[in-house]
Amino acid sequence: MIGIIDSGVGGLSVLREIRAQIPDQAIIYIGDNAWCPYGNKSYDEIRERTFALTDFLIDRGAEIIVVACNSATIVAIGALRAHYPLPFIGMEPGVKPAAALTRTGTIGILATEASLAGEKFHHLVAKHARDLHVITRPCPRFVELVEAGILSGQNVEAAIDEYTSDMITADADVIILGCSHYPFLRPALENRLPDQVRFVDTGAAIARRVKQHLLTTPPHSSTEIFTTGPSQNFSRLVELLTPSLKATCSHLPLP
Ligand code: DGL
Repeated sequence: MIGIIDSGVGGLSVLREIRAQIPDQAIIYIGDNAWCPYGNKSYDEIRERTFALTDFLIDRGAEIIVVACNSATIVAIGALRAHYPLPFIGMEPGVKPAAALTRTGTIGILATEASLAGEKFHHLVAKHARDLHVITRPCPRFVELVEAGILSGQNVEAAIDEYTSDMITADADVIILGCSHYPFLRPALENRLPDQVRFVDTGAAIARRVKQHLLTTPPHSSTEIFTTGPSQNFSRLVELLTPSLKATCSHLPLP
């Protein structure tokens, strides 16, 4: 069984890739909506939450945990791997693929405040984008919009303009969607920004890595979704964001 965690609905952008590539494994997903967003939380809080979510998933039989949240990966993946004996797959802004794609030598990185401040993030940029002009930008309103199920319209366009105008002016031709919530705004970003801009999102790459792990649980295509927030609202968002997914959705009363 595959366990997936995120602060809210963002990790569903990774879940849909995992389900597309691995149709025959049971998946349990938790959105920690009672604590969403993670992007402005302290590192201690984010670590504590990811441990609580992981404990629940292990109790339910997860054999591998996908941290479908860049912020939680950057802040907590080392501690998770040190503490638990099972494999963890994390997600980080796709700086390496972006560096390979750019022709202008300028890339934009959209991510949360927590991710952009992380040491792991600075290493990633130093390793793969040392010679590039890198413009970073936290986008808290993107998370709020996706969590509200608003994926297009005036407010989305205003947020896109606010977060990307510096990048476009500086001739960035690749923009990294460095938070699992942002791929849900990709159609709006593609409509709003010049055609030459390409977007990097690592969801499909994460799914390929999950697929390399052999799991021992018998084949089962069930998808169970939990939220630490209200489940009715979450169910509505699951339907909106991942319409083809057949999943049950329940409230998880985690302290
Ligand atoms: N989806 C998350 C990420 O990939 C966190 C968004 C948030 O809760 O601030 O970073």
